[in-house]
Amino acid sequence: MEPTRVYLKDYQPPGFEVKHIDLHFDLREDFVVVTNQMSLRRLKTGSLELDGVQLKLRSLELRTTSSGVQLLGASDYRIEKDKLILDHLPEEFELKIVTEIKPQENASLEGLYKSGSIFCTQCEAQGFRKITYFLDRPDVMTSYTVTIEADERKYPQLLSNGDKIHQKILGEGRHQVVWRDPHKKPSYLFALVAGDLGVIQDHYKTTSGREVLLEIFAPHGQQSRCYHAMSSLKKSMKWDEERFGCEYDLNNFMIVAIDDFNGGAMENKGLNIFNSRLIMADPTIATDADYRSIESVVAHEYFHNWTGNRVTLRDWFQLSLKEGLTVFRDQEFSADVGDRGLQRIEDVDSLRSRQFSEDAGPNAHPVRPESCLSVDNFYTATIYEKGAELIRMMQILTGRLGFRKGMDNYFNKFDGQAVTTDDFAQAISEVNGLDFSQFKLWYQQFGTPKIEVLDEYDSNREEYRLTLKQSIAKTEKQPEPRPFHIPVLLGLLDRQGKEITLPADEVSFNTDQEAVLHLKRMEETFVFKHQKAKPIPSLFREFSAPVEVLWEAPLEDLLVLMQKDRDGFNRREMAQQIYLRVLNDLMKGASKVPASLLKVLKEVLQDQKIDAGFKAALMTWPSDAMILQTLKTLDVSALRLAREGFQTQVAVACESQLRALYLDLHKEPFLTEISTRAFGVRNLKARVLAILQSLPESDGNGDSSGVLALIETQYYQSKNMTDRLAALALLVDSKHVTAKRAALENFRLEFEKDSLVLNKWFAVQAQSSQDETYDEVQGLIQHPLFQGQNPNHIYSLMRTFGNNILQFHDPAKDCYRFYLDFIEKLDAKNPQVAARLCGAFNLFKKLAPESRSKLLNEVRRVLMNTSLSRNTRELLQGLAEA
Ligand code: ARG
Ligand code: ZN
Repeated sequence: MEPTRVYLKDYQPPGFEVKHIDLHFDLREDFVVVTNQMSLRRLKTGSLELDGVQLKLRSLELRTTSSGVQLLGASDYRIEKDKLILDHLPEEFELKIVTEIKPQENASLEGLYKSGSIFCTQCEAQGFRKITYFLDRPDVMTSYTVTIEADERKYPQLLSNGDKIHQKILGEGRHQVVWRDPHKKPSYLFALVAGDLGVIQDHYKTTSGREVLLEIFAPHGQQSRCYHAMSSLKKSMKWDEERFGCEYDLNNFMIVAIDDFNGGAMENKGLNIFNSRLIMADPTIATDADYRSIESVVAHEYFHNWTGNRVTLRDWFQLSLKEGLTVFRDQEFSADVGDRGLQRIEDVDSLRSRQFSEDAGPNAHPVRPESCLSVDNFYTATIYEKGAELIRMMQILTGRLGFRKGMDNYFNKFDGQAVTTDDFAQAISEVNGLDFSQFKLWYQQFGTPKIEVLDEYDSNREEYRLTLKQSIAKTEKQPEPRPFHIPVLLGLLDRQGKEITLPADEVSFNTDQEAVLHLKRMEETFVFKHQKAKPIPSLFREFSAPVEVLWEAPLEDLLVLMQKDRDGFNRREMAQQIYLRVLNDLMKGASKVPASLLKVLKEVLQDQKIDAGFKAALMTWPSDAMILQTLKTLDVSALRLAREGFQTQVAVACESQLRALYLDLHKEPFLTEISTRAFGVRNLKARVLAILQSLPESDGNGDSSGVLALIETQYYQSKNMTDRLAALALLVDSKHVTAKRAALENFRLEFEKDSLVLNKWFAVQAQSSQDETYDEVQGLIQHPLFQGQNPNHIYSLMRTFGNNILQFHDPAKDCYRFYLDFIEKLDAKNPQVAARLCGAFNLFKKLAPESRSKLLNEVRRVLMNTSLSRNTRELLQGLAEA
């Protein structure tokens, strides 16, 4: 059966209202019986079509005031294509539907399933229909009462949304708990957990005085790894009150850590469910990056309580309404509790590496898509990260105060409702007296706009003219793109790097006193008068719009900006632009990194005024994915040579500064401290060591430089995972085979019982640029420690390998066949995870023709499989049709 495509334009409001739902779960070892009692009310004529997937219907009863209770037989309803259809229903009625499901056999990790001995759920987007028959769409909101019955010893904790209103002991070693959620919610926010778990507790008092019990559940013995998540939660609750006036609205807030989880985490009302990797931390198992993602994801899911739960989605095409907005909120939170400048740098790096390639790839889609085969495929960097950039641009247009006013208006207007991105834009613009009609094109058109920068100086008129030209992806899907409204935050610098004051009649200032140009036409020229000399423009400060800037400025100007701009983001951005330029020159045959750059890098390394975190950001080269964006076609060996040549020249030129800096950083007294400063120091240490590793060895692969000894010392002596993993990654990505084997073995022996840490062991091997990587990955999927059903293990090994541009796309190897075989097999069990692996092909259009046809052959072969899920089918079809 060909899956049907769903269109935004076909949206129809639901035909029935669910006034209340009463769910009863009887949890057994080989099946679960779900009894669903709903009261419904008709809103328009027509039959009732309830969604249900893989359910075994045991009985169906209808209760009406006129005819009482009727047991329905096969002639009273139809079951068609994952729907239960009832005709001729009265105005008001109740249904009692008893179904049986088998969570124990549910490998899709969607709906109700088992992770180890724990029952848990994942309903977003359409998993609730795997639990019971329902109008499984976000605009059907109702109040829930949930009763759970299970064995008392195996499942002492029985959890669901809202307040626990009742519990009792039943006979035969079983017990029962009843939960009631006072807030109406869509079915995707339903959750249930049953298991034998450890817990940590804490309390939070909201501004208006509500006492909230906070609980984090994890496997017994692992509670001590949950304190960082707990403190992140408390920080988030406070921040949301202060920054957005959002208070928590229940008496308890629970988080459960689950080992087998398709995504990162889920914002179920009052009962968030998390992938363990985003909860568990202590310095011996978690890196600084882990600490930071835990903090931001705990915040993200908590923030959904207002942006997503209280105000929810009308339909899934609006997904960015909650995700873009909530990512924006978690980014702002991380900026406020950490280092704002570094946060922006990281967020933009990730946007460029992941979203820009998606937006240029075969499955590019707008932030508000117009059609789909599978809703699950909407969980993309475009919906999340680009969506967040759209919100950020709105905040630039309104200023922070104006944005807050708009958010207040949004909550006032739409609390308790299911709405659209248009409703959001209207709520923000109307209280700020702005017109967002052109701005909203950002939701409708896909592709990263390119902005060409041309400037000239007229010394007679003392005028500086800056021309900005947009160009937007023109394809079959988007034949006539219209110009975007693009906010350009900017400044002008003189030759010494001093900021020039801009007169108010030439630029506008938002309420944050930032100078902003509004680029609204395809091409515009902005004139700056009374300029005594040609200024240097600092454009798109703070990355004020998700665009690619094409600017052929002289290297000296970029170096001035890199050293002097007052906008930290642009200082680092100019460094990136310089590196990209040099890397491109090296790929085109140049042999030398410009001396002027090497001189500046030496100064940066020695500069005591630059803090470690920012220095590390300056010394981080563009990722392969970013370099690839500047190329027409991927040439794996040219890319490798350029990248290695660049780093070797930096290492040789700056050797003494790098060595001095490393020794100095290694002296730092804190080895396991968790703080923004410590993160910066460790990150810089890792960067310096990586660059030092590129020093040429006088005797081939010995250790005449002594760098191998430094790396091994860091690996074997450090007490924290950040330092150890950084060193391990360098060893694995080196020619020192003996040292590499020994370290990998040492790591395995230490952590083989800890599935979460093994993710790192898989990932460092899959990301190595050494030629043995493909063989090793093939070995690792057979390794007894590799859990082939666990999404974390799959992502760490396979997704990491798929992102390893140098190895995965090596024309001499058959990685595509291997990878697509893996996807096809996995798809039969877990379509969501299989489909996510397809992201490795986003760079399809950059591949050389031979690689492209090699890949297409494999893709077409897999598409012949008629039982392929709609998730994977949609993405591979996109690729085949590109
Ligand atoms: N809403 C969850 C989050 O914030 C993600 C749910 C993922 N669901 C999925 N089908 N992939 O971020
Ligand atoms: Zn989210």
